[in-house]
Amino acid sequence: MATYSVPSRVREGAATPITDLDRYREAWAHAERDPNGFWLEVARERLRWRKEPTRGLDGDFDSIMDGPLSWFGDGTLNVCENCVDRHAAAHGDRVAILWEGDDPSETRTLTYRELHREVQKAANALRELGLKKGERAIIYMGMVPEAAIAMLACARIGAIHSVVFGGFSAEALRDRVRDCGAELVITQDWGLRGGKKIPLKSVVDEAVTGEPGVKKVLVYRRTGDEVGWDEDRDVWWHDAVGSASETHEAPALEAEHPLFILYTSGSTGRPKGVVHTSGGYLTYVSYTHATVFDLRPDDVYACVADVGWITGHSYIVYGPLANGATTLMFESIPTHPSPARYWDLVARHRVTIFYTAPTALRALAAQGNEHVLAHDRSSLRVLGTVGEPINPEAWEWYFGVVGEGRCNVVDTWWQTETGGIAISPIAPATPTKPGSATHPLPGILPSLRTPEGKLVRGPGQGLLCLDHPWPGQARTVWGDHERFVSTYFAHVPGVYFTGDGCRRDEDGYYWITGRVDDVLNVSGHRMGTAEFESALVAVEEVAEAAVVGYPHPVKGQGVYAYVVPQPGETIDEAKLTAACRTSIGAHARLDRVQVVPGLPKTRSGKVMRRILRKIAEGAGDELGDISTLADPSVVDKIKAGAILEG
Ligand code: PRX
Repeated sequence: MATYSVPSRVREGAATPITDLDRYREAWAHAERDPNGFWLEVARERLRWRKEPTRGLDGDFDSIMDGPLSWFGDGTLNVCENCVDRHAAAHGDRVAILWEGDDPSETRTLTYRELHREVQKAANALRELGLKKGERAIIYMGMVPEAAIAMLACARIGAIHSVVFGGFSAEALRDRVRDCGAELVITQDWGLRGGKKIPLKSVVDEAVTGEPGVKKVLVYRRTGDEVGWDEDRDVWWHDAVGSASETHEAPALEAEHPLFILYTSGSTGRPKGVVHTSGGYLTYVSYTHATVFDLRPDDVYACVADVGWITGHSYIVYGPLANGATTLMFESIPTHPSPARYWDLVARHRVTIFYTAPTALRALAAQGNEHVLAHDRSSLRVLGTVGEPINPEAWEWYFGVVGEGRCNVVDTWWQTETGGIAISPIAPATPTKPGSATHPLPGILPSLRTPEGKLVRGPGQGLLCLDHPWPGQARTVWGDHERFVSTYFAHVPGVYFTGDGCRRDEDGYYWITGRVDDVLNVSGHRMGTAEFESALVAVEEVAEAAVVGYPHPVKGQGVYAYVVPQPGETIDEAKLTAACRTSIGAHARLDRVQVVPGLPKTRSGKVMRRILRKIAEGAGDELGDISTLADPSVVDKIKAGAILEG
């Protein structure tokens, strides 16, 4: 296996903390030895506090059932002030948000001064609409600067935002509105993505009709196309924000004040509202953004994710803006209007740091190198990936073709729950191995465990756990702390269980092997098999359904549904697809459907997913012992059955 080591360069401007391997080792050892000292120093150095914290961590994993952990508990700050006001004062003319619309000819820039004005106006407008500290606002928008402004304005007044990805269905949106008890929904008339119009406002209308908790819907006009309107409830952004005062004094908020709720899929049940708080989260995303990407003052940083996911929260909005960086917001998709879109974007904006998902790289690599080579990529310095394991071929393509063999590639492993990057190379410091997320960042203490919870020492494979709290980690599940504890801290008491499998090699490098639970990762999108199954069994003709993932060359994982019809019924695949779309959203596609006479079950009635996974993978001959099944003959029938390609 080749090891790439890109020499660190002489730095200009502000220093980042870690520039070589020795400093990484020192920082990691410091954070391990004295986590409170390490993080207090980082928190004080990177953020502007109204009241500087003197306390680090309160609580630990052993007593997590007693209540959430706290970091910097005696500190106060305002997250929005940290992301905007202080940079507007120090370098107001620097571009904060560089936006490129679905149509590449449409661009906008907002300097820190302009962003400051906009967030103050938006904060005043939200207050005028009645939103108060601690109340919840759902943000259901596409990738427009106003989505970031809405997030920052909520943060400014201490309202808790919950951004819902604009691909989710009305049903999924309604579930989230209800679960968090939202008072306000912020949306836009229509979204634009890949040349298609997305009816955001009309989905909101469907979701909130009959929801008495939602008092107002604030609507940003993106396309100007027709939308339904409720005079009592709906308010145009340009009216409410346009007429609001340009000054708003940001209040000091407690470090542990909730900043946002983000819903994410788990193995069972409905998505959980993961809660992140203010001081620890911002410290962590600011530190990791600057450190991993080797951030410099003149960088043009482009993360092409969506604000509807954690990557957008931490590394489009909060991390980069806390660091006073120029962050690009991209409304489109990698193949619109052609597979050259990313590289055209890089060339036109002189992007220096580019951050995307492996699934996009695999899809683009398959289109041939000429799309890449036609555009000037000489500005690029750091290339990041996130969301799923990157296969070595895609890594080599990114490094060699996109980065011309001279950029640092950082494969960043983390999760909605970790808040920020946890295992990753540090651009200038870490020699990389294609396909490995390499080493834990300072403050992250990974361990590999057997299913019984025993430690795996040295090289080996196991369940990936994190043994000590870090400031950016989720504090709880909204309204259900017990679910937080049982999901993450019950497998191995006293440590955080990630849900991922992982291998550690002889050099101590970490290789994430993927989820070991019933969470699917399709094109970097996290979805629960249980969500698909409940959508499928709601279809009249379906008696039972089981959904598993299988390896997919581009998407990472594909969705494989086994469906048992009701006696005498036939299954219409289009109906199944529509059911998933309605219940989850447009991104929830079934790649393969197999109608089966029954599911393999134990005598106690438990579906043996291990067997279904093997068959879906094409490894139906390696099923091992199936004698414990209630009806082993069902396995042969499934193996002999026909598959419908979705
Ligand atoms: O399985 C891991 C995978 O994505 C999961 C987290 O998904 P989500 O909460 O949606 O956050 C995605 C963006 C941070 C993880 O449990 N994952 C994420 N990054 C990587 C990864 N798997 C392998 N390598 C990565 N770099």
